[in-house]
Amino acid sequence: MKVLILGSGIAGLCAAIRLAEGGARVELVSPYISERSQSVMAAGGINASDNVSLHAEDTFRAGCGIESRKAIEELCQSGSGIISRLEDMGVLFTREPDGTLSRNRLGGHSEARTAHAGSSTGKQIVTALCNKCLEYEAAGTVHRYLNCHFYSALIKDGVCYGALLLDDAQKKIVTVTADRVIAATGGQNALFGKTTGSALCDGYAAAKLFTQGARLKNLEFIQYHPTAIETSAKNILITEGVRALGGRLYYTENGRRVYFMEEKYGPDGNLRSRDVVSREIALCPSQVYLDMSGVSRKAIAAKLQEPYFFCRLYLGIDITKEDIPVTPTVHFFMGGLRVDDRHRTDIKNIYAIGECAAKYHGANRLGGNSLLAAIHSAFAAADDILSDETQRAAGACQKEASPVPDFSEEIRESEEEIARILGGQSLFSDRYILSEINDVMKRCAGIFRNKEQLEEGIVSLRYYEDVLNKLIFDSTLSVYENYRLPCMAVLGRAILLSALKRTESRGAHNRSDYPESSPSLRAASIARWENGEIHITFEKEDTGEETHES
Ligand code: FUM
Repeated sequence: MKVLILGSGIAGLCAAIRLAEGGARVELVSPYISERSQSVMAAGGINASDNVSLHAEDTFRAGCGIESRKAIEELCQSGSGIISRLEDMGVLFTREPDGTLSRNRLGGHSEARTAHAGSSTGKQIVTALCNKCLEYEAAGTVHRYLNCHFYSALIKDGVCYGALLLDDAQKKIVTVTADRVIAATGGQNALFGKTTGSALCDGYAAAKLFTQGARLKNLEFIQYHPTAIETSAKNILITEGVRALGGRLYYTENGRRVYFMEEKYGPDGNLRSRDVVSREIALCPSQVYLDMSGVSRKAIAAKLQEPYFFCRLYLGIDITKEDIPVTPTVHFFMGGLRVDDRHRTDIKNIYAIGECAAKYHGANRLGGNSLLAAIHSAFAAADDILSDETQRAAGACQKEASPVPDFSEEIRESEEEIARILGGQSLFSDRYILSEINDVMKRCAGIFRNKEQLEEGIVSLRYYEDVLNKLIFDSTLSVYENYRLPCMAVLGRAILLSALKRTESRGAHNRSDYPESSPSLRAASIARWENGEIHITFEKEDTGEETHES
């Protein structure tokens, strides 16, 4: 059994390890080293609770009732086992003086359940996983394709047989055949410019698979994290852990501090779910700050080293003495590839895990559930693949794997496309088009949306798609940046269309022209690609029942 994994962040690494443990051969596509993946930026921690049903209830409620309860329960059930597994691999979770696991209570949670390694949980998990994966790399069961990017899936008659990659150094298409492909490619941060995440996550793989037959789900639900600091290069997350440890949001009006979350929602107001806090901040008349006077020096030293360091470095402020200016910023994409309960996409033999898969979070994700979902989904997909293989080996499934069809035409076309981009001489800069797309997305898919803005954005993106498909762009930058752009524009348009069709407000999707939730839209939005057109439908999660088509 050979499995090709696209992406080597936490989800990709976990799938690789689980598959290698089960005897599969893994081809791990690693455009960059794992230590540069978005996963290292996860600060707040990972949820694990002894009270699984309460965790599941919080997750379901935060997601505004559109996610499958069964899937959520399985996710929450897996928390404690995952923490033990990570500790076995060497992750040093922060512990209280009595030796128990330290757990923060993040926004939208009704108890403290987020285990963390200081405020660099993602980094520590990535390090432990890399170390574990290295054992299999040394043994030759996991092989990394470094500096290679996904280009397209090799699909015939709805079945996937592997993928084409672009080797960025050689500027060459590489063909990798595989029995299964797992997409672990993260969110679509690069569509929005500066976010709390990595600009290396551009949504290209999900978008390309969309144009190759996979459906996308819940794209309109984009999480704005309430507290980030703005720097010239990117916006940096100030973990919810700061508010969990006593940080309070306020703005100043006529010389008076207004603790708006507490005034409106009571003493617990600062820890309302992220959609609520971000909306309230967006409505504030002046700059919002985190009042740090209630956060002890001891807590900062033990649990908030990263915010301390980043504020010092980028803003020149000392958070043991000064308040932090914060701004809501795109942080997480609840939407992505539609998957079933085993993380299979609509294309046979392709799975999606981690942030590129739309599952568990519904309309709004709880803090600490992304690391949990990344690992849980990786194990679910890997186990499904391994059990298929076990059944096949035991003869339960008589059919032999079909031979790989001839893909020479697809390979030739891809090589021609790369040659066309490389040979292009043009005054048009791809960076310019990307920044135009970013502007459209920020303007039209912000914290508040409305019909006019969304329609205007859809027309603009359609225009950029046409331009991108007709013109050759400056290829002196990177061939990779060139070929990904048309698909990114398609993904942006699918996001705006999903937001336009959801004529209600729910979780992270807030329509100023439809401020209420609509019971008939208590459903997932599904985007389908057909001959260059994008169709949006809605389906109820547990039943798969379709409610209406637009
Ligand atoms: O605020 C945070 O630490 C973010 C955590 C998360 O997105 O899960």
